[in-house]
Amino acid sequence: MPQNEHKRLAAEKAMDYLEDGMIVGVGTGSTVAWFIDALGREPGRIKGAVSSSEQSTQRLKSHGIEVLDLNYAGTLSLYVDGADECDPHKRLIKGGGAALTREKIIAQASRQFVCIIDASKQVPVLGKFPLPVEVIPMARSLVAREILTLTGGQPVWRDGVTTDNGNLILDVHNLTITDPVAMETALNQIPGVVTVGLFARRPADVVIVGGDTIQVL
Ligand code: 5RP
Repeated sequence: MPQNEHKRLAAEKAMDYLEDGMIVGVGTGSTVAWFIDALGREPGRIKGAVSSSEQSTQRLKSHGIEVLDLNYAGTLSLYVDGADECDPHKRLIKGGGAALTREKIIAQASRQFVCIIDASKQVPVLGKFPLPVEVIPMARSLVAREILTLTGGQPVWRDGVTTDNGNLILDVHNLTITDPVAMETALNQIPGVVTVGLFARRPADVVIVGGDTIQVL
């Protein structure tokens, strides 16, 4: 079965976590696109969605789903999002789609974070996927130097990409993240860093892994 089909299966399983009339937090990426399409098949089931990106907002609206401001929605019961890597403790690397800041805000605002991945995203230790860090443009080189000193990893500017918040992305290569909470905390302290794509302080609560069979962790 192709990887895209595994993503679709994980996304459709996440529909089990939906309750009628709820406001759902919606992440970004190709796996989440399947989830949005599944939401679109049941119009009226949810009150609306809080979106983590312009990309997801457009897709939600194309299905007639109302997109709400998080400041209005308050605490959310459910957030559904994908990931680039997931370790056995449900800690994640996210931001491959450059939407990490809004994703982290919504994850923090949600009581339950259901992460939908295909089996290729499961790793024993985070870091093989380059760690995305969103930075304020004027601090790009400073942050890159600090990250190199602090972690030994190689920051690479994701050329040509501007986030929905008007910022830049550094992808940090060659990391072996044995203590994700400590690394997330340390990188968060660098002036100019907006968001680190480590979701360790607030990991997923449930991980749905799509493969030839579905696993719920
Ligand atoms: C976007 C993300 C995505 O969840 C992550 O990149 C996974 O994407 P996909 O579902 O396309 O594999 O963090 O910022």
